[in-house]
Amino acid sequence: MLNNKKIIYSGMQPTGTPSLANYLGAIKNWVDLQDEDYCSIFAIVDLHALTIRHADGDLQRRVKSLYTLFLASGLDPEKSIIYCQSQVPAHAELAWILECYTYMGELSRMTQFKAKSQKNEDNINAGLFTYPVLMAADVLLYQTDLVPVGVDQLQHLELARDVAERFNGLYGNVFTVPEAYMGKIGAKVMSLQDPTKKMSKTESDNVNNVIYMLDEPDVITKKFKRALTDSENTVKFSESQPAVSNLLEIYSAASQTSISEAESFFDGKGYGFFKQAVAESVIELLKPVRERYADLSKNPDYVDALMKNGANRATELAGLTLAKAKESVGLLVL
Ligand code: TRP
Repeated sequence: MLNNKKIIYSGMQPTGTPSLANYLGAIKNWVDLQDEDYCSIFAIVDLHALTIRHADGDLQRRVKSLYTLFLASGLDPEKSIIYCQSQVPAHAELAWILECYTYMGELSRMTQFKAKSQKNEDNINAGLFTYPVLMAADVLLYQTDLVPVGVDQLQHLELARDVAERFNGLYGNVFTVPEAYMGKIGAKVMSLQDPTKKMSKTESDNVNNVIYMLDEPDVITKKFKRALTDSENTVKFSESQPAVSNLLEIYSAASQTSISEAESFFDGKGYGFFKQAVAESVIELLKPVRERYADLSKNPDYVDALMKNGANRATELAGLTLAKAKESVGLLVL
């Protein structure tokens, strides 16, 4: 709690090209949360991204681009602390300390570790294994109360809670024990070609699966035109129509209408009309973001200055918790 406000913290990896799923599922909700009565902190977690390999210069470019995209989306450094993880050394330091309070058995049970190591058989590095501890450090450093995350991250958050409680049990109240923020959950956006899979910015072998946040309007239209539909020829949200339901969910989130309002609007209209309308709602939604991104990109020094300022503010806050944790475990803090 800071000035009596609850602290909200979330992070995003600078991998892949940010998609509509990242926007509707996370970034847009973060923007809305800023205006509620929280102290909000958002990070680009580039240390987490080191668990996979990047071509020369790619990671730097992606961090800057994602930071610019955060700003373009409406994350506001006046309202939130927005920073890049590797620019705040406390993350790596606390992660090491917490690793010594986390058990191999706990980490071995993480389903994401199991899935990722199956997929990256040639690079099952130790970072992939300890990844959830770094995430725990991110959250705990800021005395976070609430963490908006998708369901795939709940197990990691549970681990962060366990580690925090274990640490507090030994040393007193060093960390706030964080909770998942389930208030307003973002839309779950699925692949346009295979609605059983998430619309993923990193795992797509077909660009038609994914709407990228910076896609041009004609590209967006084309991708929705090619999007899979179902065979029932009605625009109804139902389990038997996963493709249509996904498009309805996108439309509803993009145009801020309820699913049932959308269903009645599209009642009796064909899939052609429906897909065109979904495309238009997404084009409208992303247009201001794309425009602001273009403007901000002309001014990289301004973005750098904001990033530096974010890192300074985060460093100051994180330092308080880090010093407490170091003293707790018996390190000499001068
Ligand atoms: N592991 C998260 C993901 O892949 C990203 C992340 C890292 C994060 N640190 C965090 C999310 C702290 C919330 C809070 O999505």
